[in-house]
Amino acid sequence: MNVSIIGTGYVGLVSGVCLAEKGHRVVCVDMDADKIARINAGISPIYERGLDALLQRNIGGNLRATTDLADAVHGSELSIIAVGTPFDGEEIDLSQIKAAAREIGAVLREKSGYHVVVVKSTVVPGTTDETVRRGLEAASGKRAGEAFGLGMNPEFLREGDAVADFMNPDRIVMGGIDDRSIECLDLLYRPFDGVDKIRTTCKTAEMIKYTANSLLATMISFSNEIGNLCSALGGVDVVDVMRGVHLDKRLSPILPDGSRVVPGFTTYLEAGCGFGGSCFPKDVKALIAHGRRLGQPMTLLDGAVTVNRTQPDQIIRLLKDHFRSLKDIRVAVLGLAFKPDTDDMRESPAIPVIQWLQDEGADIHAVDPVAGSAARKLFGDRGISYHEHMETAVAEADAVVVLTRWDVFRRLPEIIAERTVQPLVVDGRRMIGRDAVARYAGIGYREMNP
Ligand code: UGA
Repeated sequence: MNVSIIGTGYVGLVSGVCLAEKGHRVVCVDMDADKIARINAGISPIYERGLDALLQRNIGGNLRATTDLADAVHGSELSIIAVGTPFDGEEIDLSQIKAAAREIGAVLREKSGYHVVVVKSTVVPGTTDETVRRGLEAASGKRAGEAFGLGMNPEFLREGDAVADFMNPDRIVMGGIDDRSIECLDLLYRPFDGVDKIRTTCKTAEMIKYTANSLLATMISFSNEIGNLCSALGGVDVVDVMRGVHLDKRLSPILPDGSRVVPGFTTYLEAGCGFGGSCFPKDVKALIAHGRRLGQPMTLLDGAVTVNRTQPDQIIRLLKDHFRSLKDIRVAVLGLAFKPDTDDMRESPAIPVIQWLQDEGADIHAVDPVAGSAARKLFGDRGISYHEHMETAVAEADAVVVLTRWDVFRRLPEIIAERTVQPLVVDGRRMIGRDAVARYAGIGYREMNP
């Protein structure tokens, strides 16, 4: 199939490269000429595990990139919209979606033959049927369902694992305004044999995407609220509590041989310093705003967002418990990215924590395996030294704060073991054993007062 993809962010680019790998002829479109040049040179503008190799294998073959949207749409039977849908503080910002619909529509005005437009960007329920359809019809002068089809096909890609998630999907959701549109999506995903495919309406497809992300975000905030109560109780560790919960056979089923299936789901049921990234925060807020506009308050999701906003305060509280003032106190911050295996700092819990430490006048020593330069852009150098290695960051630290679950940080106890004066370890991810260091303070646990 000839496919054009509008927008080459992490969703658009990964989808384009992977669909090319699966045998489709793909053109990626973006208005950023620099980015297009890099892609055509086989250099990925973003870091995603496995992406470079697939890009290099397909570029110049099944895959090319261009700034010429009209040419790409003319030369394809199916166009995928994968532009950004940020949250503007009040509601979802659909300006890029509207622009893409308008531009594709203008090409469809001239193009003969059936064409399908598919929305892959995360958009609030109703957007494809209403906003996108209206934009396409107005610009093309043609009617959806006649001259062209319209579909909604959400992505379920995790940053860092996006290529693997695309190549081995757990589900493919194919929404469409009619059978013909869904048939085209079915053709697009024919190479993904044996995967569960859902054929549905565009609005349901949009809702599936939000519901999936809202559930995971709620599970994290739920675990954090329980963890905060454990801290208030004293003598109860949220890690032990959640382990007891995970062993419910409905969460981790027992196989006939007695072993357990441990679903990835359980890792979202662990307390920490909060979720971040480019998806959960914006998606949950957009859904809440959408519900409110429809007269449907989203009380539970509102709570999930509130818990998350205040969760980094737990780190601050733990530091305040041990230091009267942070002025000139040497604090090593382990982890800046919102999660491991990415340099993405968007909505990272490290942001409020570091800003607070800067305001307090702490002597901050930050380390992250890949997010150092992104952090430097964000925080500048006020009160912060950036380190390549954990060893130098924690040297002579009075406190060590763990904010991202990078595997390398598991070596912390070994690194500080020999020190005569032991730092306080504030574990925002509960990844260091409570007894593995001399002075420990973790989210979701407080020693029982004697
Ligand atoms: C998330 C979803 O997991 C994807 O399914 C979805 O496609 C994507 O959003 C999206 O909407 O595009 P992502 O934001 O890349 O993916 O990150 P996750 O790996 O899910 O992490 C999100 C947050 O959950 C992070 O702050 C992380 O610290 C936390 N998390 C992640 C956990 O608490 N436990 C985990 O096992 C993984």
